[in-house]
Amino acid sequence: MARAPPLHQLSALLALCLAVAVCFSGVENAAAAAGSRKMVGVHELRMGDFSIKVTNWGATLMSVILPDSKGNLGDVVLGYDTVAEYVNGSAYFGGLIGRVANRIAGARFVLDGKAYRLYRNDGNNSLHGGHRGFSKVIWTVKEHVGGGDSPYITLYYHSFDGEQGFPGALDVYVTYQLSSPYGLSVRMNATAQSKATPVNLAHHAYWNLGGHGSGPVLGETVQLFASRYTPVADVATLIPTGALAPVAGTPYDFRAPAPLGARLADLLRRGGGVIAGYDTNYAVDVDDGAALTALRPVARVWDGATGRAMELWADQPGVQFYTSNGLGGVRGKGGSVYGRYGALCLETQGFPDAVNHPSFPSQIVRPGQVYKHDMVFKFSFA
Ligand SMILES: *[C@@H]1O[C@H](CO)[C@@H](O)[C@H](O)[C@H]1NC(C)=O
Ligand SMILES: *[C@@H]1O[C@H](CO)[C@@H](O)[C@H](O)[C@H]1NC(C)=O
Ligand SMILES: *[C@@H]1O[C@H](CO)[C@@H](O)[C@H](O)[C@H]1NC(C)=O
Repeated sequence: MARAPPLHQLSALLALCLAVAVCFSGVENAAAAAGSRKMVGVHELRMGDFSIKVTNWGATLMSVILPDSKGNLGDVVLGYDTVAEYVNGSAYFGGLIGRVANRIAGARFVLDGKAYRLYRNDGNNSLHGGHRGFSKVIWTVKEHVGGGDSPYITLYYHSFDGEQGFPGALDVYVTYQLSSPYGLSVRMNATAQSKATPVNLAHHAYWNLGGHGSGPVLGETVQLFASRYTPVADVATLIPTGALAPVAGTPYDFRAPAPLGARLADLLRRGGGVIAGYDTNYAVDVDDGAALTALRPVARVWDGATGRAMELWADQPGVQFYTSNGLGGVRGKGGSVYGRYGALCLETQGFPDAVNHPSFPSQIVRPGQVYKHDMVFKFSFA
C-alpha cells in the first residue's frame, strides 16, 4: 500500500545521480547511452496486440496493453508517462518491492541473536524496504528480447550489506516474460551473499481492467483463493496479531466471485469509519499434499464493462489485497487523475512482519539458499 511519505524527491534524485554518476537523459536518449549499464531506460516487450513496458528504475512495470471484447486496446495498470515521475512518486506504481515488502513492526527485528534497526517510514514501522527500497533504485538490464515467441527482460540488482538496515549483501533478479495467449510472468529470485537476511519481494502493480484512467474498480468482480487471512491488531498500523482467521462470514470472504463494490460497502459499514478499504493479507489456499512453494491460483478479476479478465497464479504463502485506499488526486499517464479505489493490487508475498512472528512461514534466506517467487498473470477478453 501507499502510505509512505513523499520522498522529497528532487534532493533524493540529485543524491542518487551523484551516487551513481549518471543522470537521466530521458527515455529517448537511453539507447544512445547504452554503453552505460546504469542508464535508466524504458524497454518494451511485444507479442502482436499485447505489450508491456518496463523501466530499470525500480524494475517497474509501466504499462500492460491488451484488447478488450470490442478490440479496443487499453492499458490496465496505473502509472506515469515518464521515469522522472516514478522517481518522484510515492505510490509504488508497478514497482518491484524489497528487500522486505509490507510492514515490519517497530522497524526492528532480531536475527541469530543480533538486533537490526530499519527506517521508520510508516509511523513507527518499516514499509516496503525503507526509504529507498528496491523500487527506488536503478537495476541493471541483463538481457532484453523485445519480440518473437517469448519476449523477456531480465533485471539485476546487487543490494549491499547494511542497505536500508538489512544484513548482508543480496543478489536479486527479476524476469518479465510474455507468452501466448496474453500471459505475463514475473519471476524473481534472490541469493544471500554473506549473511542470513529476511527477504520478501512483491510486485506492486495497480490493476484496473477497465483501463488505467477509467475510474473506480468497484464494478469489477473479484475472487480470492483464500479461506483465511491474517487479522491485524490495529487497523491504523496494520501489524498482524500473528493469528490466522477464517474469512467465512466476514466481508473478507471472496472465495466465490463477488462484486467488489458491494463487499467493500459491507467492509466499510462494519469497519465503523475506521477502515478505508481492503489492505489485507490473505493466506492463499494450498491443496492437501501440495507444496507451499508450488504455483497455485491466487485470484481472478473480471471487468464486465470491457470483458477483460485476469487470473493470477503464484507460489507464495500470502497475497496483500489492496484497493488503493490511499490514492487521491495522483496525476498519472495521459493526464488521468487516479483517486481512491482507482485500482486494485494483488501483491503475492510472505505474510507481513513474518520476521517478528515465529508462527508465520519464515522469510529468512541464508547464504547458499535461494529465494524464489513466481507470478503468472493470464489475461482474456470476451
Ligand atoms: C511530485 O509528487 C508530488 C506528490 O507526491 C506532486 O505534488 C508533484 O507535483 C510531483 N512533482 C513532479 C515534478 O512530478
Ligand atoms: C510510535 O510509538 C510511540 C511509543 O510507543 C507512540 O507513542 C506513538 O503513538 C507511535 N506512533 C505511531 C504513529 O504509531
Ligand atoms: C535467478 O534468475 C536469473 C535470471 O533468470 C538466472 O540467471 C539465475 O540462474 C537465477 N538464480 C538462481 C539461483 O536460480
